[in-house]
Amino acid sequence: MRILVSGGAGYIGSHTTLQLIASGHDAVIVDDFSRSKRSVVPRLEALAGRSIEVREVDLTHVPATEALVADGGFEAVIHFAGLKAVGESVEKPIEYYSNNLGSTLSLLAAMRRHGVPKFVFSSSATVYGENASVPMKEEFPTSATNPYGWTKVMQEQILRDAAVADPSLRVALLRYFNPVGAHASGTIGEDPSGIPNNLMPLIAQVAVGRRQKLLIYGDDYPTPDGTGRRDYLHVEDLAAGHVAALDRLGTAPGVSTWNLGTGTPTSVKEMVDAFARACGHELPVEIAPRRPGDVAESYADPSRAEAELGWRAGRTIDQMCVDTWRWQSNNPDGYPA
Ligand code: UFG
Repeated sequence: MRILVSGGAGYIGSHTTLQLIASGHDAVIVDDFSRSKRSVVPRLEALAGRSIEVREVDLTHVPATEALVADGGFEAVIHFAGLKAVGESVEKPIEYYSNNLGSTLSLLAAMRRHGVPKFVFSSSATVYGENASVPMKEEFPTSATNPYGWTKVMQEQILRDAAVADPSLRVALLRYFNPVGAHASGTIGEDPSGIPNNLMPLIAQVAVGRRQKLLIYGDDYPTPDGTGRRDYLHVEDLAAGHVAALDRLGTAPGVSTWNLGTGTPTSVKEMVDAFARACGHELPVEIAPRRPGDVAESYADPSRAEAELGWRAGRTIDQMCVDTWRWQSNNPDGYPA
């Protein structure tokens, strides 16, 4: 299949692009490089052993997206591109709604016009809102607590409505839990722009000496050690989930929703301990107040993806930390500019 990978230069997009190529697909990256670096591309090409077509397009620009899809010959779009920082979305809601919804809308319009039948969407466990019980199941109601989360809820709804109106459209809504880790080569990984928001890149930057200490946001949650528990999954397992979902869309009509997680939660303290084992030294931490909006626990019921995709996220927390450390220690400042 010839596949358009939006946000293919980003963290999850880059790992997925490699696995698509390894599975025999032809992946074309489209990225505006607003939150990613061009220097990821030669690294991907070195790992893939071939050149990769890259198009620089702002997908909110309707005519540019139309032109991209018109002459692409694509059979599927995997849509990773989007803004994803919860706090920033509260500060800049209009930017978040127009970017995240706008790119999905212009892709869908261009796909309909040119008969591209498959859409795989990067959704998030954030769509379960703040009052969901655990483990989280796909049939739970959706809601959000911040503009970023609402863009995911709304994009899911847009895709469901589009699939009702166009029976030839096949959609996978992939609800990611907490992706971490890096490619085993240590040459591609997560390189957040600015100050990271998420636990793993913060731990990795403390370990490599870029930050002084890790703040643990709350140790008084109703969890075994008092710190928040999340469902961390290795980005390579997550990438494999996309390949499996794409294959399955060959036979699944309409919209399919799949949680992508391990189903097993890990606490902040457990993650810090695992990372200390991986990097070989203790990490300075300080207990801080809870972060507003955080829940005590979030983890998937991954049984639907296991049953329908034959997919499981099998890599361990220690593997996630070892691979993150290899990437971070080889690239202390991330990708070159
Ligand atoms: N944490 C800390 N210190 C930090 C950062 C995080 O203790 O400096 C803790 C958090 O309190 C939480 C855990 O580490 O308990 C994980 O936090 P992340 O920010 O890495 O992940 P979240 O689960 O909070 O957020 C993720 C995605 C969001 C998404 C949300 C809900 O990053 O995009 O899940 O699905 F909205």
